[in-house]
Amino acid sequence: KQILVINGPNLNLLGKREPGIYGSQSFEAYFETLQATFPDVHLTYFQSNHEGALLDKIHEFGFVGDGIVINAGAYTHTSVALGDALSAVPAPAVEVHISNVHAREAFRHHSYLSAKCKGVIVGMGLMGYELGIRYLVSL
Ligand code: DQA
Repeated sequence: KQILVINGPNLNLLGKREPGIYGSQSFEAYFETLQATFPDVHLTYFQSNHEGALLDKIHEFGFVGDGIVINAGAYTHTSVALGDALSAVPAPAVEVHISNVHAREAFRHHSYLSAKCKGVIVGMGLMGYELGIRYLVSL
């Protein structure tokens, strides 16, 4: 199976950014652990701080791949376009948030992606990505 992990804005700073909230591990290091955890899965990783680049990637992968794990960062709470893109492609998606967005500011409680995803994982740290992949592989 081919699974794509997508991280949106500011998630390139994982490990350096607010470590009390997001932890001290970089995503690149964690991604190597993920690849080792799923040796039979063709896992790829894409990060961008640009909404259009995230859209292009969903369009490109979403018709050929088997599943998408997406943490759209702050675009989660603002982007109708990312929600539409997930609706437009056949690949199933799982939404992940490292922090428990429901325990934070009210503007983080709404997601334009959740209704377009098979499921949502919040507040479980980086493990959320592993759980999302595990689910998509099981489909
Ligand atoms: C986040 C939560 C968002 O509200 C925030 O804007 C992020 C990270 C998370 O993984 O917890 O950038 O998606």
